[in-house]
Amino acid sequence: MKPLRLGIAGLGHVGCGLVELVEAQARLRLPEHVSIRGVTARDRNRKRGADVSAYDWFDSAKALATDPDVDVFVELVGGADGPAKDAVEAALRAGKPVVTANKALIAEHGMALAGLADAQGVDLLFEAAVAGGVPIVRTLRDSLSGIEVTRVSGILNGTCNFLTSQMLSTGRDYADVLAEAQKLGFAEADPTLDVSGTDAAHKIAILSAIAFSANLDFSKVSISGVEALDLIDLTFAERLGYTVKLIAEGVLTEGGVVCRVEPKVLEASHPLAQINGSLNSVRVEGNPLGAVVMTGPGAGGGPTASAVMGDISKLFRTGRRSAFGHAAHHPTRDFIVPDDAESAPWFLRTQLADVSGALASLTDTLAQAGVSIDKLMQDSADAQGTAPVAIVTHRCPRSNMAQAVNQLAQLSSIAGKPRLIRIEMDH
Ligand SMILES: NC(=O)c1ccc[n+]([C@@H]2O[C@H](COP(=O)([O-])OP(=O)(O)OC[C@H]3O[C@@H](n4cnc5c(N)ncnc54)[C@H](OP(=O)(O)O)[C@@H]3O)[C@@H](O)[C@H]2O)c1
Repeated sequence: MKPLRLGIAGLGHVGCGLVELVEAQARLRLPEHVSIRGVTARDRNRKRGADVSAYDWFDSAKALATDPDVDVFVELVGGADGPAKDAVEAALRAGKPVVTANKALIAEHGMALAGLADAQGVDLLFEAAVAGGVPIVRTLRDSLSGIEVTRVSGILNGTCNFLTSQMLSTGRDYADVLAEAQKLGFAEADPTLDVSGTDAAHKIAILSAIAFSANLDFSKVSISGVEALDLIDLTFAERLGYTVKLIAEGVLTEGGVVCRVEPKVLEASHPLAQINGSLNSVRVEGNPLGAVVMTGPGAGGGPTASAVMGDISKLFRTGRRSAFGHAAHHPTRDFIVPDDAESAPWFLRTQLADVSGALASLTDTLAQAGVSIDKLMQDSADAQGTAPVAIVTHRCPRSNMAQAVNQLAQLSSIAGKPRLIRIEMDH
């Protein structure tokens, strides 16, 4: 079968991320092959994150969108109006499916564009427009279509999240932290869309339109951002056991759907209070489900391009897909038995007889098995005369630990079989 031919407009963070993914497609699980028919951006001579010299260059996004050899138009330019909107409309009118990451466009003109796509009988897909690499759009639209959603909420802007957590951890004020974030590339040169809450509002409006089958009307969304927050608000909240986060929410009420973005004070134990940096997290509540939460990278060229590719994979002409998504061109891989050479830190707990030299024989046995100790904790002997000891090891192979545990079980100074549990590190 011929590959699906993409026209990619916009070669910035996401566009270049997509070009790299297309070139690495042998490592992905796409049902068919994709190729790049042509690309466009504003400045042909700009040095880019990906080499696009092999692809045909188009001087306008609209010309690319309507090129007869383009099967799918991918809009990664940005902006609610202007060239992005013109090109998306042109592609849909030409009967071509569109994939976009443009939340401003979908939040402001999504209803009209969806109408145009329906009239033309083509897809308009925008997984990457909400929460970057977190696949919440299609999950909410398709997998969660069997629940009655009552509320959708979350942290949807990494820049605001970064700013408030930095203010708190460094004790510096908003303007200072923003200037540093811009220098480090964590905030745009013009951060208005982010810090005003508008970017999060675009995303929650899109999610709410899906969750509640609602007519998206962005003018009704209530928006306040993080610009007005003072350091003292954050420090006082923290001293009282709370965390301040910019929260976006859409709620179904009797009168209709209420969408709001505003800073909120959360109890420190609230799951959203743990979401830091550029992570996004979305919580969907409904009946009879309860709640599900999806968390992941909310921005960045690679993660966002992966969501774009996920949408593209919906557009292949393959009819029915196999139950596990396997395709003939995928590499053949087999399950194998787990390898005892896998290396990890370990938690070992045992009971030592209350006799002299017991601890020394424990540590000697570990040393002989090539296990080195990171932390050790011992309590006093209990009523049975044995003292619990817990050890955290440095990273070592499972086989070394298995050998150590077998040898420990032989020692007369050890009561019962030692308990061994692998420590899972946050990579
Ligand atoms: N970056 C993220 O983490 C992220 C996450 C989720 C969604 N998104 C969305 O993805 C889209 C792209 O974001 P990005 O971060 O990749 O933006 P970006 O790095 O600023 O790239 C924008 C691209 O659009 C091109 N462009 C601008 N005006 C154009 C025009 N008139 N005709 C053709 N091309 C034009 C630019 O060309 P030049 O390079 O020649 O200037 C540039 O290549 C936006 O809608 C954004 O909201 C981004």
